[in-house]
Amino acid sequence: MDNRRIGFFDSGIGGLTSIPYLMKDYPDEHVIFFGDTARTPYGSKSARVIRRFTLEIGEFMERSGVKMMVAACNTISATSLDVLREKYPDIPVTGVIEPVCDVVAGSCGTDDHIGIIATRATVSTGAYVNAIKARRPDMEHIFQTACPAFVPLIEEGIIDNNIMHDTVRYYLDDFIRENSVDTLVLGCTHYQLIRKVIEEIYPGIRTISSSEEVVKEIGTILEEKDMLAGDNDEENVFYASDLSENFINMISMLLGSEQDDLNIRFKNLDM
Ligand code: DGL
Repeated sequence: MDNRRIGFFDSGIGGLTSIPYLMKDYPDEHVIFFGDTARTPYGSKSARVIRRFTLEIGEFMERSGVKMMVAACNTISATSLDVLREKYPDIPVTGVIEPVCDVVAGSCGTDDHIGIIATRATVSTGAYVNAIKARRPDMEHIFQTACPAFVPLIEEGIIDNNIMHDTVRYYLDDFIRENSVDTLVLGCTHYQLIRKVIEEIYPGIRTISSSEEVVKEIGTILEEKDMLAGDNDEENVFYASDLSENFINMISMLLGSEQDDLNIRFKNLDM
């Protein structure tokens, strides 16, 4: 048994969307969350810069004494997991891409048409396409596209209104139609927040969310290492490099808690 907290991090609010799944499936687990809201989005930055930011987050997580690190961010998962694993060989590190690819490989047929939507940085690594093909060489219909405007809009709290509806159509109408996509991978944890909008616009399409799938992987790792938490008094702490109104509102909304009951703190990593 291990009652230390799990370190969760993202470029901003996207990674928060995994927390309700974690709380539902593993109610004894607690998190130290860090959202780099001052430097979001990561997805339009170079891999070199993302790796530097990730190492800064890793250092903060290690100093905070987490038992495991979870990159609840596809962009970090696609570019920087190796540097974290190399620097912290004694702390289990997981990302969100491999768990999603396990689900795709285990549940999709050869004839399915898989669409992957993600940030520019994630798309440019080809991480999803490579990981799916490594598991299922028979799957030939795998397509990907970057949707760079989604994250800044979501960070602004623009989620279910005409602006977002138009933006979804702008990126996805042709992509889905031209590639006959029947399964859409939300390859950015922020996109979980517009999952409902996407499902409403394209009702026949199955969506797979990286925010949701990573939680099963966390459980498997902790179980294998005998590190699951037991009954304890720990509490969740949420750090951000800029305490934006949307960050605070989002935690409150996702956890169904009053803001005063939440432990939300400012953390500047580059000082
Ligand atoms: N939530 C991050 C991801 O899953 C987002 C990215 C960004 O900052 O661009 O990729």
